[in-house]
Amino acid sequence: MDQAIPYLDLPAQLRPLRKELDAVIARTLDNCSFCLGPDVSQFEKDFAKFCGAKHAVGFNSGTSALHVAMMLLNVGQGDEVITTPHTFVATSWAISYVGARPVYVDIDDRTFNLDPKLIERAITPRTKAVMPVHLYGHPFDVEPVLEVCRRHKLPLVEDAAQAHGAKYRGRVIGTFGAISCFSFYPGKNLGACGEGGALVTNDDAFAARARSLREHGSTQRYYHDEVGFNYRMEGIQGAVLGVKLPHLDQWTQGRRRAARKYHELLKDTPLQLPREADYAESVYHLYVVRHPRRDDLKKHLEAHKIGCALHYPLPLHLQKCYASLGHHAGDFPVTQKAARECLSLPIYPELTDDQIQRVAAVIKDFFK
Ligand SMILES: Cc1ncc(COP(=O)(O)O)c(C=O)c1O
Repeated sequence: MDQAIPYLDLPAQLRPLRKELDAVIARTLDNCSFCLGPDVSQFEKDFAKFCGAKHAVGFNSGTSALHVAMMLLNVGQGDEVITTPHTFVATSWAISYVGARPVYVDIDDRTFNLDPKLIERAITPRTKAVMPVHLYGHPFDVEPVLEVCRRHKLPLVEDAAQAHGAKYRGRVIGTFGAISCFSFYPGKNLGACGEGGALVTNDDAFAARARSLREHGSTQRYYHDEVGFNYRMEGIQGAVLGVKLPHLDQWTQGRRRAARKYHELLKDTPLQLPREADYAESVYHLYVVRHPRRDDLKKHLEAHKIGCALHYPLPLHLQKCYASLGHHAGDFPVTQKAARECLSLPIYPELTDDQIQRVAAVIKDFFK
């Protein structure tokens, strides 16, 4: 019987790092530096350098970082932020948390990312920011988005939760916008052993206010300048991320190798495969294929013990939580087609060529 191929294999990533992780976690226990602390500060410096940015501010999740990004840009009640309906819901949460309205524009059929051509017509006097997502690890087309932002004097926020180290025209994403936000959720390309996130910026004032907002709106203990949050990164997560960050480039190469192998083996199947745009170097957080018979293919793979997933089955404009926005089926046809057809295959640096060959063979068998 063939071995199961999990959709995600975190144990395979942790195994070779286990001794190092045990040691830094033990050190944190000895130091009792549980909330922020020296490991978080060091990781912030290292991650800022990795992004080519002046500041990285550690958070307890990517969602918290996005929320604070909206506050830094003074987005508030009645304002609008232009974003994509084809993403994880947290992108929109940040907008809702400050009382603003997510204004969706449709995506580009090829990259699944927000279509820059559609931004301008969605701008109104209430628009306060544009927040696309580097989805699945593939950068959105930054230049045309920035051009619209410049023309309308709107700040750009990069939701970089899925794209640590991805490159746009040779430059690592994360400093194209005024602010970018990363997630270190365990399954991300750089994942904590728990929750984590970061806000990255070149702006000194943004970084200082982000540090204050994540810690109860204070820079001096028990003195609170504004209503803040407990959004601190845990010391243990800072230590774990510090162990993992030096491996990230090599892991990205492993993901890119796996993507190339999939491409080589699946290119003659009826599947639509992910392709990098000419401006992009994807970090393949996900490997998302498309087909109208997606649901049957998913069942077929699962019957052969191959894990797969849907990112994302229901676009945000059709979610119950956003019914009040008044959208209807058909509002964003490219997004809805993508939601019907997308299927995420297993991809991680440890995925072997043999495993990829088996996934490809099972897919070919489906189309026979
Ligand atoms: C695109 C996107 N934005 C935001 C988030 C939120 O990050 P977190 O889960 O760390 O809060 C995630 C991941 O979960 C995500 O994939």
